[in-house]
Amino acid sequence: MLKEDNIIEKIEKAIRVSEKYIGEGEVATYIPELANVDPDGFALSIVTVDGKVYEFGDLDTVFSMQSISKIISLTMALLDNGKELVFSKVGTEPTPYKFNSLIPIDDRASNPLINAGAITTASLIKGDDVDDRFDRVLTFVQKLAESEEVNFLYKVYNSEMKTTDVNRAITYYLKSKGIFEKPVEEVLDLYIRDCSIGIKATELARLGSVFANGGKNSKGEQLISEDIVRIVLSQMASCGMYEESGRFLMEVGFPAKSGVSGAILGIVPGRCAIVTYSPRLDESGNSIRGKHLLDLLSDEIRLNIFLHE
Ligand code: DON
Repeated sequence: MLKEDNIIEKIEKAIRVSEKYIGEGEVATYIPELANVDPDGFALSIVTVDGKVYEFGDLDTVFSMQSISKIISLTMALLDNGKELVFSKVGTEPTPYKFNSLIPIDDRASNPLINAGAITTASLIKGDDVDDRFDRVLTFVQKLAESEEVNFLYKVYNSEMKTTDVNRAITYYLKSKGIFEKPVEEVLDLYIRDCSIGIKATELARLGSVFANGGKNSKGEQLISEDIVRIVLSQMASCGMYEESGRFLMEVGFPAKSGVSGAILGIVPGRCAIVTYSPRLDESGNSIRGKHLLDLLSDEIRLNIFLHE
């Protein structure tokens, strides 16, 4: 919940100040389809735990979830298998290496929010075949986002499938370490499909508000257990912004997860979820304007979880 009376003025001020970052950074091109966006496209959406929405910018823009889907894959792996099994296959610790590096894999990926970790959690999602597993993931995202318009972006998927040799290598490596037994191509396919879910800013913020609200949607239905919410949020806080995670937590002060399409989902427990969309990225793969805007909003409306009211 955001109590301040002049909340809209404060949000608009943060947006204005964030304009100085327009033009900084580059859109991701290693997935060719991601380069076909307006690099200066922008959206901000905040959904509070009691269902209020504050939204600005290009609200009809659909972007792929990319690495933000890693929180869904982790949630579903936990729902399907429980904590013990999941964290016997993937670690819980941050890594200073890039999100698609093979280095943070020793016997297992260092955490569930880098590529190797999300490929691991994808391998743990139950279902008869890839179509069935992905159907479960997409239906779950639609339910959390309260929108059946959330859908699969085939062009993004196809573009990544053709260029994803690094993830293919990671998947083979994980299989060689005995992390899963399923065929490599099946596991990789589900991981890339999850990354290719298309969503709008407010749909994603609504999904995030369930995590902000201890697993309940705005109608009070418990969609995710508190135990899973606490695990996912703590992993987002420690690992969600890749090699900038510690700095982001120090400066901004709440759990967040970025994706190379340029979105960031921030979660302020008990209060709100915030989605920024701005496709120009820094070296870590985090949106430049997005991360600065979250910092500005955190200061303007006191969202840092390490400061009391
Ligand atoms: O596997 C990949 O490289 C992409 N599908 C997702 C990476 C990503 O979003 C990293 N995020 N900032």
